[in-house]
Amino acid sequence: MKTYKCICKTLDDTKQLAQRFAELIKDGCFVNLYGEIGAGKTAFVKLVADALDVKERVTSPSFVILNEYHTGSIPIYHFDLYRLENEGIKTIYDELREYSEGKQVTFVEWAEFNQNEAPFNHIKINVTYSDDDSRVYEFKSIGNKNKDIIKGLRV
Ligand SMILES: Nc1ncnc2c1ncn2[C@@H]1O[C@H](COP(=O)(O)OP(=O)(O)O)[C@@H](O)[C@H]1O
Ligand SMILES: [Mg+2]
Repeated sequence: MKTYKCICKTLDDTKQLAQRFAELIKDGCFVNLYGEIGAGKTAFVKLVADALDVKERVTSPSFVILNEYHTGSIPIYHFDLYRLENEGIKTIYDELREYSEGKQVTFVEWAEFNQNEAPFNHIKINVTYSDDDSRVYEFKSIGNKNKDIIKGLRV
């Protein structure tokens, strides 16, 4: 019950998945996203933010490293660690730690560059693409805290 895999054939399928996910994370959640460039990490975060009623335009944080949104039903922190790589990551450990627990949703793209600062309880999402608009989103909960989110996605 700790994993869930969803094949999204179109962006609209991904939107529906994001809406279901948004319903389940109302108490906050830390999410590490994996997948190559163009897989659909940012697209998923955008769709979740829309579902949480964020009013601002949601953009990729790949150049600014962190975007935050406070107009939705819960604060959203959206990191992209790609440009920091292994050395630069140390400069944002404070922020990563600060947004690790509590009532907010934190998304981290290129989480493989984050060595140790993820909280023990978190969700991993791996995004892969096969052809055209088809994407596979695989969810895995680490620790006990987020098990119900995965369970909720499975129904
Ligand atoms: N089913 C789908 N799910 C997610 N994104 C899709 C899908 N079909 C097409 N796309 C497009 O794929 C692109 C994914 O880009 P992006 O989310 O920025 O990738 P990443 O953040 O993983 O580098 C977007 O332009 C998005 O509109
Ligand atoms: Mg991205």
